Order: sequence, then structure tokens, then C-alpha cells
Amino acid sequence: MIIGYLFKSAGDTQDNVFGEEVAQQLQADELAVEMATQLFAIAPDHEAKLYYTTMVQDESRHTEAWLKLIGQVGGEGERDPYLDKLGHMFLEADTLEEKVFLMQVFFERLIIPRFRLIARSSRGTLLEDLCNRLAIDDGIHHGAGMAYERVLLAEAPKKVKDTLIAAANRMLPEFAAHALWRPKAREMIGQLMEARDRERLKTELDHGVRLAQSLGLDVSDVVLPF
Ligand SMILES: [Fe+2]
Ligand SMILES: [Fe+2]
Repeated sequence: MIIGYLFKSAGDTQDNVFGEEVAQQLQADELAVEMATQLFAIAPDHEAKLYYTTMVQDESRHTEAWLKLIGQVGGEGERDPYLDKLGHMFLEADTLEEKVFLMQVFFERLIIPRFRLIARSSRGTLLEDLCNRLAIDDGIHHGAGMAYERVLLAEAPKKVKDTLIAAANRMLPEFAAHALWRPKAREMIGQLMEARDRERLKTELDHGVRLAQSLGLDVSDVVLPF
């Protein structure tokens, strides 16, 4: 494999930035394997279970790709603590409705612009290709999750719907912190970019709230982190 195809500007500081991005996406997809496996294990409907076998495979393939890519660039970066918190929040959620909501309705949708952003800044590289494919996969996971959540909520009591709003309020600040998080070495650049990042993030979070609304949830109690 030619490094130039992996990361266009070999030797440049860009390499570190991409390396850290790869480490963070590897962390996210490792967690996604666990989450998809949980969804597969607890989904009571035959068709949903069947779908989750595909999702488990997709997330495993994503992890495999990141692992191979990180093998090329060497080492792993600092773990994003907010991503771990989001993972635990999902894994420890009490109901299937909450898990589908946190992962497929929110996370897999909110992460897509990040892939597009990485792709745009790594034109002509393997990373661009990978991010574009992952954006498609997560778009499909999100669409399937929206459809299943609709089915689940059609029969869910109000109590369950209320727990979803509470879950959104716990998740959104952590997601915002995750989206703005930079490894220590890049905190400086992170601060310079923060205003633009915040602006973009706010648009995404607004979209997340509209998605919840489209599922028939009363979002008037959702508090956006900014
Ligand atoms: Fe994934
Ligand atoms: Fe996914």
C-alpha cells in the first residue's frame, strides 16, 4: 500500500490529524459492534433480528477497515472520553426503544457530516473512499432505525416515550462534547476552529431534534447544549 494513497500529504502534520481521526473512528466503530450485537440479541421481531445480523457485519467490517488503516499509520491515538460515555449510555440503556433511538436515530445520523468532512479534506486517498462508504452504510442504518423506532413507538406507553426525551437530554451534551473534542496535541488548532465547529454542530443537533419530533415525540423539553 502506498502511503500517499492513504494520506495525501505524507510527512505533513496533516498525517497526524488523519491518524487521530482514524483512531477516533476506530473507537466509534468498536463501540458500534457492541451496540449492534446488543440490538441483535434483544430485538424480539424476526425481521428486525435479521436486519441486525447485517448491521453487526457492517460494523465489524468498518472496524476491520479502521484497524487495517491504523496498522498502516502506526499506533493508536488518545481515546475520546465522551465517545466512551456515549457508548456506556447506550449499552446500559434499559429499553430497546431507547437503544435504537440513541444509536440509529441520533448517533448514526449525526456522524454522517463528520465522514463527509473527513472525506472532503482527504481527496484522492483511501480515507476519502472509506469515509464515503461509511456515510452510505450509516445512512442505511439510520433509515432502518427510524423505521423500526416508528414500529416500536406505535405500541409504546407514554412512560417509554418520556424516557426517550430524558435520554436525548443526557445524550446531546455528550455528543456535542464528542464532536468538539480534540486530542491534547491538537487542542490549539481545536480552539481556533471551535466557532465554526459549534455553528455546524448546532445545525446538526437541531436536525436531531426534528427527527425525534418526526417520530411523534414531544420535544418541547429537549435542551440543546448551546
Ligand atoms: Fe460503523
Ligand atoms: Fe452504523
